[in-house]
Amino acid sequence: SSSNLMSSTTSAYGVRRGFASESAPERKVAVLGAAGGIGQPLALLMKLNPLVSKLALYDIAGTPGVAADVSHINTRSEVVGFMGEEQLGQALEGSDVVIIPAGVPRKPGMTRDDLFNINAGIVKSLCTAIAKYCPHALVNMISNPVNSTVPIASEVFKKAGTYDEKKLFGVTTLDVVRAKTFYAGKAKVNVAEVNVPVVGGHAGITILPLFSQATPKANLPDEDIKALTKRTQDGGTEVVEAKAGKGSATLSMAYAGAIFADACLKGLNGVPDVVECSFVQSSVTELPFFASKVRLGKNGVEEVLGLGPLSDYEKEGLEALKPELKSSIEKGIKFANQS
Ligand code: NAI
Repeated sequence: SSSNLMSSTTSAYGVRRGFASESAPERKVAVLGAAGGIGQPLALLMKLNPLVSKLALYDIAGTPGVAADVSHINTRSEVVGFMGEEQLGQALEGSDVVIIPAGVPRKPGMTRDDLFNINAGIVKSLCTAIAKYCPHALVNMISNPVNSTVPIASEVFKKAGTYDEKKLFGVTTLDVVRAKTFYAGKAKVNVAEVNVPVVGGHAGITILPLFSQATPKANLPDEDIKALTKRTQDGGTEVVEAKAGKGSATLSMAYAGAIFADACLKGLNGVPDVVECSFVQSSVTELPFFASKVRLGKNGVEEVLGLGPLSDYEKEGLEALKPELKSSIEKGIKFANQS
């Protein structure tokens, strides 16, 4: 496997240097909220990623322990923990990718929008620091409601004069992960081969899986497609209810966050044809932000890809989600500009 890694990195970077793990360029990744339910397994998974050379773990509490623990793993990256606001600048400085799973998760009966009041303020302050300490980093926003926190981040960056729409991403990968898993189960196909784009946003009906474009093709009946769509939209709630007050998805989210950050790093490193769905600034619809397939490159978003052909059911879903997504976006923009 080391020779595979070497040959792929050789073609990707065009230079051949030393050992496989050292031929990848230096990349610093910061995780904000690293001591949380998502943050801890995400720190673990990023420590396993050979593309990372420095891993900064930041939280308001608990990071010295998480960092000491993860740092003993014998992989490439150097791990450092940062705790409290006075260390946030150091955590961020020099970061290529900043992943944000900071904030409160849902409890049963809550929507993602119910988190707005607490998480909006957290995201605003973290993004203010990003603009100051690592204005060129790619930002992977996990904190909910993503439909609003991404617009908040964009406004904070605009005010600071650092906004680059190619570098701000709402992480919707968990919706894709769920759609793939549920589709494979229903269609009885190998889950490792499944692809399903998920577009729109990241809450309830704004999550629109495009099963008409799923591969391998399975020609499932309409009622199966409807059930799969509903299960994908309610996947987060399924976990919230099963955890019965102890939070929302953390392990599957950490996996999804690690997949998305890895795609960002590959893009930065010049690996061709890296495509993931993400909630980004977009002109695919009339809404200013929208999730769709995105090609990642050396500057972040290389190209926002269109929706492709939709079934009638998906066309209806698209029209139905727009008012909610629009108001969540506007709520985020308003919040960022009022305080
Ligand atoms: P958690 O409560 O277990 O962890 C959150 C962490 O954030 C805590 O360690 C807390 O100390 C930290 N934190 C709070 N304020 C902070 C600040 N100002 N700076 C840095 N860290 C701060 O919550 P969990 O389960 O890890 O979820 C985190 C967020 O991720 C929630 O908003 C949740 O809704 C969201 N989420 C997003 C998903 C997605 O698909 N995008 C999926 C699942 C959860």
